[in-house]
Amino acid sequence: MTGADSVSVTFAGDIAWVTIDNPPVNATAVGVRTGLMAAIGAVASARVAVLAAAGKTFVAGGDMTEFDAPPVPPHLPDVVQAIEDSPVPFIAALHGTVLGGGLELALGCAWRIAARRTLFGLPEVSVGTIPGAGGTQRLPRLIGVALAIEMTAAGKRLTAAEFQAAGALDKVVDGDLRGAVTAFAAELPPRPGKISARPSPRFATADWRAAEAAVAKKARGQNAPLRAVEALAWSALPFAEGQPKERALHLQLRQSEESRALRHVFFAERAVARPPAVRAGAPRSIGRVLVLGGGLMGAGIATAALSAGLSVTLLERDATAAKDAASRVIDTLEGGVRRGKTTADAVERQKAAFTATPERDAAAGHDLAIEAVFEDVALKRALFAQLSKVLSAEAILATNTSYLDPTAIFDGIPGPERCVGLHFFSPAHIMKLVEVVALPATSADTLATAFGFAKTLRKIAVRSGICEGFIGNRMLTAYRRAAEYMLADGALPEDVDAAMRAFGMAMGPFEVQDLSGLQIAEANRRRQDATRPAQERYVTIADQLCALGRLGQRSGKGWYRYDAGDRTPKPDHAVTALIQAYSDAAGIARKPISPQDIQIRLLAVLANEGARIVEEGIADSDAAIDLVKIHGYGFPRWRGGPMRAAEAAGDTAIRHALDMTEAASPG
Ligand code: NAI
Repeated sequence: MTGADSVSVTFAGDIAWVTIDNPPVNATAVGVRTGLMAAIGAVASARVAVLAAAGKTFVAGGDMTEFDAPPVPPHLPDVVQAIEDSPVPFIAALHGTVLGGGLELALGCAWRIAARRTLFGLPEVSVGTIPGAGGTQRLPRLIGVALAIEMTAAGKRLTAAEFQAAGALDKVVDGDLRGAVTAFAAELPPRPGKISARPSPRFATADWRAAEAAVAKKARGQNAPLRAVEALAWSALPFAEGQPKERALHLQLRQSEESRALRHVFFAERAVARPPAVRAGAPRSIGRVLVLGGGLMGAGIATAALSAGLSVTLLERDATAAKDAASRVIDTLEGGVRRGKTTADAVERQKAAFTATPERDAAAGHDLAIEAVFEDVALKRALFAQLSKVLSAEAILATNTSYLDPTAIFDGIPGPERCVGLHFFSPAHIMKLVEVVALPATSADTLATAFGFAKTLRKIAVRSGICEGFIGNRMLTAYRRAAEYMLADGALPEDVDAAMRAFGMAMGPFEVQDLSGLQIAEANRRRQDATRPAQERYVTIADQLCALGRLGQRSGKGWYRYDAGDRTPKPDHAVTALIQAYSDAAGIARKPISPQDIQIRLLAVLANEGARIVEEGIADSDAAIDLVKIHGYGFPRWRGGPMRAAEAAGDTAIRHALDMTEAASPG
């Protein structure tokens, strides 16, 4: 797009309106930058200029398709500087999401006026870089360092009210933005000094250290947030020195593997949301949801649906179970008010849209039924057989099973084209991933509806074919198996967990198992006994723990020990002794495994299993695998997912790591 296309200048009396129009989000692409430079010259005859944007939002960021190429002039920092230096002062008229380069443009203006629902942020770290057009230098001069750190390094978005309270907005408008800006322009206050010329903000050295430590903890190995703090600290320098340093770091970071990986995830999230099988179907809208079973998962799914404004009936096996399920749901909803995530009014509306009951007839009239009862195929099948008589013939029937074959669950149910798997992750009201499991008979419309429903719940849907554990849990099985091989060969649970946390995983494999309970993986191993290839290595340490009743946090001990009322895993001598005895009995000379070796071996195993899953057509693409692990299993987003991370590590390293895993002594 040329500058002339994406920026226009119109005059209303002595007010010049400079309007950016670069759909969908008015990104600061080269055309916009060129257009703005021309516009600054074109407003010379006006008394005041307004910088505004057409469509749903003001500028919501940069154009990421430009990130891989050398920057093309005019550069954004020069555009912002030209606005700040313009003899005709600018008013920023802000609406929608004012993010990244959009916020930097607004900081070049003399005044900022925003519509009430506008959001403000500098989210560059979410794509692995930092602001590059003065954001880290002007923002702390305007609102102080502490809040600037939250916005820049932690990606916090502020509401218009919050941004105004921080001193960054001149006016927040409830109605007509254009009218309010025109009225403001009519009685223009004296032009304030440039933000870039303000003195450096004060912030004590100890506070910088504390901020850095807090950011490092949250970043879990990601680089950009820490670099954002470093750039913010340059606001102690004169602007003319700090800003070029910020710009250079921005350009350097956007070429980093971290930035490439994060952009890969950003684009994957958009592509995977509409796989070919889904594009072929027409989604139906879902208003009333029936959840079958209100245990851990059912209650979470009900909460997620209610939070998205849907009406939910939860069916339990008896009145007591229904009451318990209802209190689980209501407690979680109300907890949201206490944590400031939602309002009491919203929760009252959600409670009014919610019923928990043991009455089967209450199932009538729902658009979608999601089953989350015990993991028992006969129970699930019987339940669907009964309910299919009460529900309409068009209602979509979904199972949340983790490991059972959905084809067996829906066997004999009328209307197989409306049956589908909707596999949520615990806690279901928080975890973003839903695997949409397509059965051979599932129609395109049903799939499209399932994807649409996941979107309504603000979740990331990934299509999966049918296999043991679908995409995510099948990979988890391979990952755990390899982690247990390492225990037999020389590592301890705390070594593996620490290495994987250092890699950026939310938790290590053994502490996660203690959290969810060792009996789940044990049940899977028993199910797989019949089909496990005879030559496959099998390490029995986990079985031994289960036999000792060490089932994880709930039993006070598992891979670790836990003090009463404390969820902190503590290494346990008994487990060390058991592992040592296992290696001795198997004739394995234990050798320490370095954190780097642990990391690359587990990454290689994940990527290898992922590649098989794609090859078998269970997943649509490597990107789909990446999203499953990021959104369902705490894989670090900044590494781009296991497929992307393995690619970055290189074929040779990954092959070598796989050889090491497989060559380890048989246990
Ligand atoms: P849970 O044991 O916490 O809850 C099951 C609930 O189903 C109980 O409240 C029970 O009263 C109810 N129920 C049993 N029979 C019923 C019937 N005939 N009618 C109505 N309600 C009935 O189990 P959880 O963990 O919630 O798992 C449920 C399903 O979700 C299973 O298929 C499991 O594999 C799957 N799943 C579990 C995950 C997890 O992390 N726990 C993750 C993803 C899926």
